[in-house]
Amino acid sequence: MKNIVIFASGTGSNAENIIHYFKNNNSKSVVAVFSNNSNAKVVEKAKKLNIETVVFNKDELYGDVVLSKLNDFKPDLVVLAGFLFKFPEHIIAAFPNKTINIHPALLPKYGGKGMYGNHVHQAVLDNKETETGITIHFVNEHYDEGGIIFQKSVSIIDCTTFEEVSMKVHQLEQEYFPKVIDKLL
Ligand code: GRF
Repeated sequence: MKNIVIFASGTGSNAENIIHYFKNNNSKSVVAVFSNNSNAKVVEKAKKLNIETVVFNKDELYGDVVLSKLNDFKPDLVVLAGFLFKFPEHIIAAFPNKTINIHPALLPKYGGKGMYGNHVHQAVLDNKETETGITIHFVNEHYDEGGIIFQKSVSIIDCTTFEEVSMKVHQLEQEYFPKVIDKLL
């Protein structure tokens, strides 16, 4: 069995979708959802789907606690899906080339600190881009700079608000993120 552990801070629509995708898979499964926020919707969703949840604070993330709990789940892949803290180097080092992230734009554009969620979509609109997309990439010590695994673009010529852009990106995330995880494993 290949074990997937998801880290998420917010709504968790990606986490939920990934959990569903691997539900009846007999070689790969989501074994836990880790979150820095006990009130995050993702924690509620994971519990409802009978996935183990681990909630931690910042000190535990950058100290030894989270790594030690992560080791208990023997992850073959660590998936960041809307995880807002910088991922600690000592955890990346413990799972080399096994930590990936999804970014809601076409990196290297619109990446880096502060570029998350609707900030990204608004920046894309402000720059009058005609397309945006998703990037799935390995996580390294710099925000959004690890090796790119997969990208998919979508036209946003007809979009005037960040909500519209967000919806199009969201559709791509739902369609491709689980498939890319599947293929990587
Ligand atoms: C997604 O847009 C993803 O690209 C990201 O943060 C968002 C998370 O959404 N980096 P959700 O929590 O999965 O609904």
